Amino acid sequence: MEYRQLGKTDLIVSRICFGCWQLSPRFWGEVPLEPWHAALKKSVDLGVNFIDTADAYGDGYAEESLGDFLKKEGLRDKFILATKFYWNFQGERHPDTRYEYILRECEDSLRRLKTDVIDLYQIHAFDPLTRPEEVAAAFGQLKKEGKVRWFGVSNLNADQMRMYLPYFDIECLQPRYSLLSREIEAHELPLCLEKRIGAIAYSPLFRGLLTGKYDRDHKFEDTRKDAPLFNGKAFHRILDAMEEVKKFADDLGLTVPQLAIRWVLTHPAMTSAIVGIKTEEHLATICPAADEELPIEVWYKVASILETAKKEAEAM
Ligand SMILES: NC(=O)c1ccc[n+]([C@@H]2O[C@H](COP(=O)([O-])OP(=O)(O)OC[C@H]3O[C@@H](n4cnc5c(N)ncnc54)[C@H](OP(=O)(O)O)[C@@H]3O)[C@@H](O)[C@H]2O)c1
Repeated sequence: MEYRQLGKTDLIVSRICFGCWQLSPRFWGEVPLEPWHAALKKSVDLGVNFIDTADAYGDGYAEESLGDFLKKEGLRDKFILATKFYWNFQGERHPDTRYEYILRECEDSLRRLKTDVIDLYQIHAFDPLTRPEEVAAAFGQLKKEGKVRWFGVSNLNADQMRMYLPYFDIECLQPRYSLLSREIEAHELPLCLEKRIGAIAYSPLFRGLLTGKYDRDHKFEDTRKDAPLFNGKAFHRILDAMEEVKKFADDLGLTVPQLAIRWVLTHPAMTSAIVGIKTEEHLATICPAADEELPIEVWYKVASILETAKKEAEAM
């Protein structure tokens, strides 16, 4: 496993991060816990030391399941633990980044995760209703109390990050990034490089589509059921493109999912790719992606194959 320093922090994280969104039944249905536990255990053998979760995944369920398992197995110290806050899910669900809420929600996350400290605490998305001074005050308090080591943001654009930067250190951006979602290349990733902010990509396999593993008549039963590109002609167009990508993967001795992850990790701003893991096999087969980077001509070529396919698929 390869590792990188996360932003300017003292955290040295594996380039593959274990993503826990899959433990959100509302989006993914019931994901069995036994294979998920086996995957978490396997992380230690494979050198994966970085886990990403959120309070909102299953409204506490993902954090609780993770905390229970790490405590039972005595594995908390093996991992750098990242979680998020933003969705206030007590009652009517709404964004919330007010001072009192952050302090209270952090307590709840610590309790569910059964830990004394969160290594990376991230704002899940941008909340326009709370002033940055107020967020900064809460972060200062949590740092002073030793409850959080470092802070990050997710789903923010460059202007939103710039608004926060005078008030608190952003050590990490968690954006969506993959061969099918490259919007952040223009502004957010250059800002990360300029300010030495780490970047950890979510949905690097575009929720599985970039594995190319599905049959043409596959029907998704989870959050992907009605998602663009996961149905009909558009879905077939992307699968055809993945057949083309497979030739490049074969030449490099990689599987298609490995190539898709290696593509993400080749961007110089990228610290790690957060992969949504359900099983030990998912984890074991994806880890070799982190060993090296892609030759640049392959990086550009597969990007252009998917760019064309996506444009055509969206027009169908
Ligand atoms: N900050 C945010 O707003 C945000 C949003 C989304 C996700 N995230 C984070 O990012 C993580 C990953 O994102 P994601 O779950 O959306 O997408 P992803 O990692 O792009 O895709 C996950 C899906 O890919 C398939 N998969 C994973 N590893 C595989 C392997 N080795 N071989 C074949 N297939 C494999 C599985 O599909 P099947 O189920 O079909 O087997 C899995 O459900 C999440 O768990 C979460 O921690 C953050």
